[in-house]
Amino acid sequence: MIKDTINKIFQKSKGILAADESSKTIIKRLTALGLDGNEKKITEYRNILFGTSDLNKFISGVILYKDTLEKQQINGVNVPDFLISKNIIPGIKVDGGLESFNGSDIESYTKGLDKLKEDYERYYKLGARFSKWRSVFSISTKNNNPTDDLIEKNTNDLADYAKISQESGLLPFIEPEILRDGDHNIKETREVFERVFKSLFEKLAEKNVDFDSLILKTSFVVSGSMLPEDAPEIVQKETVEIFNKYIPEKMGGIVFLSGGLTPEQSFSYLNAVIKEAKKEEFLTPISFSYSRALQNNTMSHWSKDTEKILETQEVFSKDLKKASEALE
Ligand code: 13P
Repeated sequence: MIKDTINKIFQKSKGILAADESSKTIIKRLTALGLDGNEKKITEYRNILFGTSDLNKFISGVILYKDTLEKQQINGVNVPDFLISKNIIPGIKVDGGLESFNGSDIESYTKGLDKLKEDYERYYKLGARFSKWRSVFSISTKNNNPTDDLIEKNTNDLADYAKISQESGLLPFIEPEILRDGDHNIKETREVFERVFKSLFEKLAEKNVDFDSLILKTSFVVSGSMLPEDAPEIVQKETVEIFNKYIPEKMGGIVFLSGGLTPEQSFSYLNAVIKEAKKEEFLTPISFSYSRALQNNTMSHWSKDTEKILETQEVFSKDLKKASEALE
């Protein structure tokens, strides 16, 4: 069943739309563009995304926020049922967001592990077939972040989450997001990837998580956002080297997040990594699971005139097509 979900997700030329921003995050994005940040506006906006006529040409799965999975309707139909009718698999963000780690104002862990199990049955009944848990790691060489303690805590929780999700019949997406914010160079980013991935894959093995029923959602290995843009050739080399070193042979798949990179960077890095992976005979399926890289142009276009729905959907469709073409 979980394997079936993996096969459907990694269909040729298709990827994942992450539409699981928390209410707080999406309100911040809408208000930054001068729109009202209320529930009605959020529903209206997300229904433009879901209602785009060729969504299923480029998208095989959508990660939803709990409220969207449980309450939102489009054309009188529950959102997950609507997506299923278009052959798109609904997924659910199950983590409870971030909380300061040991009182730190830089480091955070992810809440919600204690109540996780009880909600899965409901999510499954509503149609969700995969789930996502995000942990974050900030890089600061000056402050020695991330600390070993945080890596231990977050990777342990990611592995526990993955086990619970597999036992509940939903394909887990583990997302250890290594943040770009800062002035660290790509070698320093690479070192953090090494520490996080080493610990993560050890914990997953210790807890007997099935690698062939597991998806890794990862950042690209890039320099901090305060440094000049990296050439795709560097990103592809560093990223695929990390994959070759840590990803078990049987891994179900890998998807990338966009992490605040521009749409162009997110598409060109994806394409470069896919080409390098092929060259290196790295066989795990790779795709995208973007939020901002797919939505930024669309949201910005809509904010200029919220009546222009079809025109907004055309903007969205163009970026979906570019992401899909990056998989070739
Ligand atoms: P970005 O592509 O904007 O990094 O988002 C990924 C994600 O998982 C959002 O929840």
